[in-house]
Amino acid sequence: MANMIDYEGDKEKSYSSAGRGETFSDVISRRLSRRGLLKGSAAASVIGLGIPSIAITQSATPVPSPVTSAEASPVVVASSLTFEPIALDSNDALLVASGYEAIPFLKWGDPITVDAPEFDPANQTAGAQARQVGYNCDWIDFLPLPQGSTTPDHGLLIVNHEYTNPELMFPGYLSENPEYAAAMDAQAGATPSVAVPVVPQVSVDIPEFLTNPTQEIVDIELEAHGLSIVEIRRNDSGVWEIVRDSQYNRRITATTPMEISGPASGAELMKTSADTTGTSVIGTLNNCAGGLTPWGTVLSGEENFQQYFANLALLPEDDPRYALHERFGLNEEASERRWEEFHPRFDVSREPNEPFRHGWGIEFDPYDPQSVPRKRTAMGRNKHEGHTSVVAPGGQVAIYSGDDERFEYAYKFVTAGSFNPDDRAANMDLLDEGTLYAAAFHDDGTGEWLPMIQGEGLLTAEFGFASQSDVVVKTRLAADLPGATKMDRPEDFETNPVNKKVYLVCTNNSNRTIEETNKANPRVDNIHGHIIEITEDGDDHAATTFGWEMFALCGDPADGSTYFAGFDQELVSAISAPDNIAFDLAGNIWISTDGTRLEGNDGLFAAATEGEERGFVKQFFSCVRGAEVTGPIFNPDNTALFVAVQHPGEGGSFEDPVSTWPDGSAPVRPTVVLIQASDGGVIGR
Ligand code: FEO
Ligand code: CA
Ligand code: CA
Repeated sequence: MANMIDYEGDKEKSYSSAGRGETFSDVISRRLSRRGLLKGSAAASVIGLGIPSIAITQSATPVPSPVTSAEASPVVVASSLTFEPIALDSNDALLVASGYEAIPFLKWGDPITVDAPEFDPANQTAGAQARQVGYNCDWIDFLPLPQGSTTPDHGLLIVNHEYTNPELMFPGYLSENPEYAAAMDAQAGATPSVAVPVVPQVSVDIPEFLTNPTQEIVDIELEAHGLSIVEIRRNDSGVWEIVRDSQYNRRITATTPMEISGPASGAELMKTSADTTGTSVIGTLNNCAGGLTPWGTVLSGEENFQQYFANLALLPEDDPRYALHERFGLNEEASERRWEEFHPRFDVSREPNEPFRHGWGIEFDPYDPQSVPRKRTAMGRNKHEGHTSVVAPGGQVAIYSGDDERFEYAYKFVTAGSFNPDDRAANMDLLDEGTLYAAAFHDDGTGEWLPMIQGEGLLTAEFGFASQSDVVVKTRLAADLPGATKMDRPEDFETNPVNKKVYLVCTNNSNRTIEETNKANPRVDNIHGHIIEITEDGDDHAATTFGWEMFALCGDPADGSTYFAGFDQELVSAISAPDNIAFDLAGNIWISTDGTRLEGNDGLFAAATEGEERGFVKQFFSCVRGAEVTGPIFNPDNTALFVAVQHPGEGGSFEDPVSTWPDGSAPVRPTVVLIQASDGGVIGR
């Protein structure tokens, strides 16, 4: 069945070609250099793919087989990833490498507070959903208990709930559109006598299905967004369980009151009829990838917030807010979800500033169940991913974040103040002051962090940036001006704590043309995505210059345009659409995929980042139909791995499911999965 609703359809669009971030002479010189390379040797073609600094000689080096056994040739370097890879799989079931088990752990609707009712899909209410696990689990993290410890078997599981699939949650939510059926009939009838069968072509403007939201459904959806905070522990029998009576268990949802802090707090563009001060907002939307701070708070990125807002076309086109909203692709007319019919704040014609209050990183303290989340506006506004942090040698904290849309940018925020490891309270507002940078990747393997500071360069009132609040509200426009590099959907962006390098995951971009390629985004029609490895100059995460190289150009290794850090391609697993990453204690990268273009379900893959096996990608886990894998995270001793199986069954409906996982009956349930070794040992060996 074709996709009925495309809630992530924004990713299939390119909203603006303005601000490509390069001068005309850049484009010409790049074209000329490509022409030269195309005449060159096979080695040159590898360089042309954008690998600036390493020689591809590794295939001459003996490497262990992916199916190494005790009888096989001696392994050159002891591997920390000894599991046997699985093959791509298309079944509606979880599959994990031999010696491991994958257990559905936290399902949509599971009660998480003492007073929460059991999941009952036939009797859903907003009040129940507000105390149960939300929908479409995404980023996950594990915070040990007590706070500040590295306890491996007791902690808080933090889970983002990106969005809802009401067509899978509620019977009858979708109905056939009689207009569509009539158009199909008319087109079929218009060509009755042709000899060759004609497939009717119906205008894409006529949806095949209509949505049927009600006030109750919409209110449940609002409570199914946001985050879950759940205390978990491994009991004496080695079984992980939820602590139902925990003081920490809570939901943060699309109706949770939040504060707005940083440069945009109180700005004119942040004011609405419900908040005339521009300092508070109701709820968080589309929480995708996230991160933790060194002081143990949670950062959650608001990604595709545009989908919830309707009726942009009713805003006069000469209203300067129109173009700002258009850059994010707000709905010109009704939204597919139609929330605007029940909550006027989602109607741009009535509340034109409400969308400016979304697209931020939010911070809250999970160890304080009363803590009010804050939208930290100094880190900019876009389709945020990540917010992964690292302390620089000078004590500042660097926060890395991608803006997940085709041709958007990768960002870093560096705090003005320093992290104080001895005074947790002193760190609580560090994220309100600092410098926001956008990344420029140069073809010679160097890069610059371009500061976005009001009054500097072109970021002046003349160009629409009268204050730093303008810079952060209009982050994308501010990053256009200094010439940042437009990337192939930058998503997760994370530091490897072992080698200190930073990995930027670009999921894909099938819109990139030959003229738009550069060495950091080297492929035309990049359907399989890539991963860039960044080394900050001096290993200083507060640095403003860096070096970079391509870590992986994903796809089927038989495809000559792929590259796996120089590793022998015949040995690696096929991988497509890298999205979220995590690092284990050995510094191996674990990569989950979203929307693979290979024949199989999305999955989780692992590869060494250093040594002889650098780039040796192996598939570890495969999820179910219609789903992507998100949020991989290990507990502190790497004996438990949590992944999210997000939007299982997408493409079907409640009545006509393409997946019935994990219960074997509708509704399909997005679920956090626990993976552990059968012998309880460290994962990956
Ligand atoms: Fe929600 Fe960028 O994935
Ligand atoms: Ca994601
Ligand atoms: Ca994704």
